[in-house]
Amino acid sequence: MVSADAVFEVRGLGKTYGSGPSAVHALKGVDLDLFAGELVVLLGASGSGKSTLLNLLGGLDLPSAGRLTYRGWDLAGADEAGLTRYRRDVVGFVFQFYNLIPSLTARENVALITEIARDPMAPEEALKLVGLEARMDHFPAQLSGGEQQRVAIARAIAKRPQVLLCDEPTGALDLKTGMIVLEAIERINRELGTLTAIITHNAVIADMADRVLHLSDGRLDREHRNDRRAAVDALAW
Ligand SMILES: Nc1ncnc2c1ncn2[C@@H]1O[C@H](COP(=O)(O)OP(=O)(O)O)[C@@H](O)[C@H]1O
Ligand SMILES: [Mg+2]
Repeated sequence: MVSADAVFEVRGLGKTYGSGPSAVHALKGVDLDLFAGELVVLLGASGSGKSTLLNLLGGLDLPSAGRLTYRGWDLAGADEAGLTRYRRDVVGFVFQFYNLIPSLTARENVALITEIARDPMAPEEALKLVGLEARMDHFPAQLSGGEQQRVAIARAIAKRPQVLLCDEPTGALDLKTGMIVLEAIERINRELGTLTAIITHNAVIADMADRVLHLSDGRLDREHRNDRRAAVDALAW
């Protein structure tokens, strides 16, 4: 359920890497509200600033200009300890590469996180949400790429994050496997109500998002809203 509360308020957000003639203006005045429970897809050409925006939302980096708040808390002005707490307690990340520990089983990879989280679900529950209940005791090398990515998703959501940020989660997968991974993310958003932002090139997930945002050269230049239910029903999942 999408509610009317803005979870993130982004105003005039800018990010510049480097300085002088070699400075790169990766974001140039982005205005955006993100709401509780939304599934948002970010599209844009390579280099348009998608990862930069996601990293700022996730507290991995700080903006150079503008306002960025999470539930009214000034994320742009946070100190290192505040950012660490925020990333640990609030945000789940999924990246293109799974970064699983090869010597641990799927269950143990997830348990590594649930052991340090405040209100985690059981590793088994997280793995069930991504459809891996039959693969819990396999090692990463015994799993396909799509399965490994679903373990990484289970690891990201097992701490019940308020926000799930996914940067090209299907970038290393074929289209069909990618769909299974995106289906898992969509299900988590729907069942747990986790505000979810996904960078992807997959047009089908764009259809099942509540909103699709287009970044171009560091600016948000277009946005459209979907009838997400219709798209999800049409896929008959
Ligand atoms: N750490 C960094 N240092 C310098 N430039 C960077 C850094 N990260 C990204 N950039 C530059 O910022 C721009 C936006 O990058 P990015 O957000 O990664 O784009 P996207 O994810 O849309 O491909 C690019 O020109 C990129 O080269
Ligand atoms: Mg990127």
